[in-house]
Amino acid sequence: MLYMNAPLASACIDAMKQSKPRTMAATRWLLHICLAAAAAAGLLQVRAQPDSIGFISIDCGLPGTASYVDDTTKLSYAPDAVFTDAGSNHNISAEYMTPTLSKRYHNVRSFPDGVRNCYTLRSIVAGLKYLIRASFKYGNYDGLGRPPVFDLYVGVNLWSNVNVSSPDAEGILEAIVVVPDDFVQVCLVNTGSGTPFISALELRPMKSSLYPHANATQGLLLFDRRNFGPIDAADIVRYPDDPHDRVWVPLVDATTSWSSVSTARTVLNFNKASYEAPSKVMQTAITPRNASENIFFTWNSQLRPDDPTPGYVAVLYFAELDSLPSNAVRQFYINLNGELWYRSYSPYYLFTDTLHSLRPMRDYPQYNFSINATTNSTLPPIINAVEVFSVISTTNVGTDSQDVYAITAIKEMYRVQKNWMGDPCGPKTLKWDGLTCSYAISSTPRITRVNISFSGLDGDISSSFTNLKAIQYLDLSHNNLTGSVPDTLSQLPSLTVLDLTGNQLSGSIPQGLLKRSQDGSLNLRYGDNPNLCTNADSCHTVKGKSKLAVYIAVPVVLVVVIGLLVALLFYFLMRRKKQGSTNNTVKPQNETPVSHVPTGDTYVQSSLQLAENRRYTYKELKMITNNFQRVLGRGGFGKVYDGFLKDGTQVAVKLRSDSSNQGVKEFLAEAQILTRIHHKNLVSMIGYCKDGEYMALVYEYMSEGTLQEHIAGNDRNRRYLTWKQRLRIALESAQGLEYLHKGCNPPLIHRDVKATNILLNTKLEAKIADFGLSKTFNRDNEAHISTNTLVGTPGYVDPEYQATMQPTTKSDVYSFGVVLLELVTGRQAILFDPEPTSIIHWVRQRLARGNIEDVVDVRMRGDYDINSVWKAADIALKSTMQVSAQRPTMTDVVAQLQECLQLEEVRSRGDATASSRDPNSGYNAYATDGQSIDVSQSSSAFEMNHNLGRAPRMGIGPAPR
Ligand SMILES: *[C@@H]1O[C@H](CO)[C@@H](O)[C@H](O)[C@H]1NC(C)=O
Ligand SMILES: *[C@@H]1O[C@H](CO)[C@@H](O)[C@H](O)[C@H]1NC(C)=O
Ligand SMILES: *[C@@H]1O[C@H](CO)[C@@H](O)[C@H](O)[C@H]1NC(C)=O
Ligand SMILES: *[C@@H]1O[C@H](CO)[C@@H](O)[C@H](O)[C@H]1NC(C)=O
Repeated sequence: MLYMNAPLASACIDAMKQSKPRTMAATRWLLHICLAAAAAAGLLQVRAQPDSIGFISIDCGLPGTASYVDDTTKLSYAPDAVFTDAGSNHNISAEYMTPTLSKRYHNVRSFPDGVRNCYTLRSIVAGLKYLIRASFKYGNYDGLGRPPVFDLYVGVNLWSNVNVSSPDAEGILEAIVVVPDDFVQVCLVNTGSGTPFISALELRPMKSSLYPHANATQGLLLFDRRNFGPIDAADIVRYPDDPHDRVWVPLVDATTSWSSVSTARTVLNFNKASYEAPSKVMQTAITPRNASENIFFTWNSQLRPDDPTPGYVAVLYFAELDSLPSNAVRQFYINLNGELWYRSYSPYYLFTDTLHSLRPMRDYPQYNFSINATTNSTLPPIINAVEVFSVISTTNVGTDSQDVYAITAIKEMYRVQKNWMGDPCGPKTLKWDGLTCSYAISSTPRITRVNISFSGLDGDISSSFTNLKAIQYLDLSHNNLTGSVPDTLSQLPSLTVLDLTGNQLSGSIPQGLLKRSQDGSLNLRYGDNPNLCTNADSCHTVKGKSKLAVYIAVPVVLVVVIGLLVALLFYFLMRRKKQGSTNNTVKPQNETPVSHVPTGDTYVQSSLQLAENRRYTYKELKMITNNFQRVLGRGGFGKVYDGFLKDGTQVAVKLRSDSSNQGVKEFLAEAQILTRIHHKNLVSMIGYCKDGEYMALVYEYMSEGTLQEHIAGNDRNRRYLTWKQRLRIALESAQGLEYLHKGCNPPLIHRDVKATNILLNTKLEAKIADFGLSKTFNRDNEAHISTNTLVGTPGYVDPEYQATMQPTTKSDVYSFGVVLLELVTGRQAILFDPEPTSIIHWVRQRLARGNIEDVVDVRMRGDYDINSVWKAADIALKSTMQVSAQRPTMTDVVAQLQECLQLEEVRSRGDATASSRDPNSGYNAYATDGQSIDVSQSSSAFEMNHNLGRAPRMGIGPAPR
């Protein structure tokens, strides 16, 4: 499985041309992975986070904190110290430092201590697919001249055995896996055959639709990936030619028994391709030099310790590179082990097509592919590239994420010196010392017992113990713990033994614990804590102290209460006076121009010139609304009334109420903004009223009310929004916001994006409303935007804005992300679970378990494209990143949502015509051209799947001929 440039050649595909079938030539093409040459350009600071394209690139063992940019890929490689807290750096031995050796291989990190040591890659998206690549060059870094053998795990699942055969071999292990959490650990496990080490670690996000064989329970382990046709063996294709940074190694024919064909023209992927080959790889191909000969390649099955019959997935890439005259035909058979695997295939001109086994192929010691022309073909066969993977099981699940966070916090607080690395409970053989876990078949492992007695713990009892919700037994005895005993421990439902014996705890035993101890539900041990008072008498001093505190506190509280009462009284008096005056004032018909109202906002001050023809008097409003009869809704501004203009147009009239906390300034701001912005996804203003005390805005009528009502299911007819409707609404709202950010100069920040401010019309078209808090964002003059008051709605406010008081366009992105989560989940921004929880936290936590179905609104009844939902959730989570720089712009969001909508539209179209619900069809339901499917198979082991397949079931069961 390792790519090697020395021995281990049987792990590579041996490709050759053969003239007589089934006579294998002995030629072998060994791999040379001399990726990027040494580099070191700019210095960058280390971040333990993915870069802007989601890549994490780590040069393991690189000392210091400075990153460097790789010469070939221009990707920045970071040192590894922030990704692991164990091991030590070493340079490889000088004799292996060749001038062309990639900088990544110059040093290694080795792990002499402990059985399992891990790298933790954070800030990734739970449930998405990633390519993870680990590289190893031993280079005799330890002077022992003996490369070790050890195991590599991805999370709790065995990834592969690492067996670097010789000191100068460069081994690369690559896996494509679905990551269940928002972090992933890559762990090196010492199996008693030498000290594990690693040279580089890379993580690349993949679209969920790619490599459909990789799913939540099954990963793909790269066996070989070959680009056919390049003349130069050093011509490796990777990023940026391959946006997914796969490494395509040329297979160069030493015997020149085939010829290379190539084109300078771009080779495209079909929409919805499952493999997305880079054009640079597809631009070259091979064909037999003698037209009557075959293309042949083979590999041997390699037993794995964990899998005696490994399953293989082969992906064959084809594209026609010559524009064929009409009388020319290139058509061929593909045979596996002498049996027909795919019947009469013709490549597409300048489009990549792939053939891959539908199910992993097993039970063969050797896999021999041969490709030969059909009798009708006037041209010899070609092939452009091939990938072979073996499948690995990823069915082991990690410990409950809440338990993981709690025990990790405990480990960090007490700097626990044990084998506490990787997942706490899994795999069972590597479980953390001192922990006992429950392993139920249907759920994630939970931590049930924690024994960290005699471990030299000092400091307070960590509050994180309270988060180990399944714990039954907690032994903290014989440490140096100080401080008081937290009463929250009594709330652990299953806790039956709590041993605090032999510490330096002080204060008294909290009531809750005493009570549980007395009623027999808890065995509480706390002897040998000299400062802990266990009976009323000895607690005297403590009580004295608390009495003093009460004595001081009472007068303070009294003063505050009296002050409040006075203030309230004053407020009511003033209010009454004001109301009286309003009632007695005759409203002048002709108003002072509104632009004179001092607002403090330069923009409004300078140029509020509302069109007079859109101005209404209070009297007119009364007529329009039939004396303010029907209330449509209420907001901070006041009530919104239903109304009809003289010409019958239905409108909504928002009348500012006296008690409104939205002031004159906000009213003017909104009116002003609405006169200058025009976009189909922003609510448009029909007119306004500024008549004495009365202020109102007249809007177009949005019959379907707020998005919030639809999400909450307040809809009178109990209709629920479909996923497509939700995506449309999301996309349209996003377009409205994008217009504010990009279409307005200076950009306009809405500052109160939320589901109640997105309105829907009869056609369920979404429009953003309520610009009362909007602000212009002027880069040259930041002072105008820096305000002292935080505005917005709890649950939607950007934490960075909250911290800096500087709203940015990214603050709207954040709030929009929350709305998007509401659309996905059908839940409110703040939900009760049972404590108030932010929807962001709720979703992140659940997605950590790897199942989107846990968060998706059940009212959609599973009627959605799963990738589309994943993608939307991903956009939402990216939009709600803590750090605004990591959030996308509204323009990005719009583009991504368009893709989501496309995915869903393809699915719903497919639904109408074919059964794309077929469980086997998930990656296969996209028809891109009209070619009829022609599949033949000799046995169920060789089921084939055509990447362009239109009929979802093809390849399963006997194919129609
Ligand atoms: C992953 O794919 C395998 C093989 O097709 C299948 O048996 C398994 O059920 C799939 N797992 C999930 C979670 O879809
Ligand atoms: C090519 O493959 C087909 C299908 O397996 C087979 O019938 C035929 O004999 C092969 N021809 C040659 C020349 O290998
Ligand atoms: C070859 O051509 C004949 C006549 O057009 C056709 O009947 C036959 O199916 C073709 N064979 C293949 C393998 O396409
Ligand atoms: C507590 O700390 C003291 C000194 O800091 C040390 O001598 C003693 O051994 C510690 N006790 C335990 C139980 O770790």
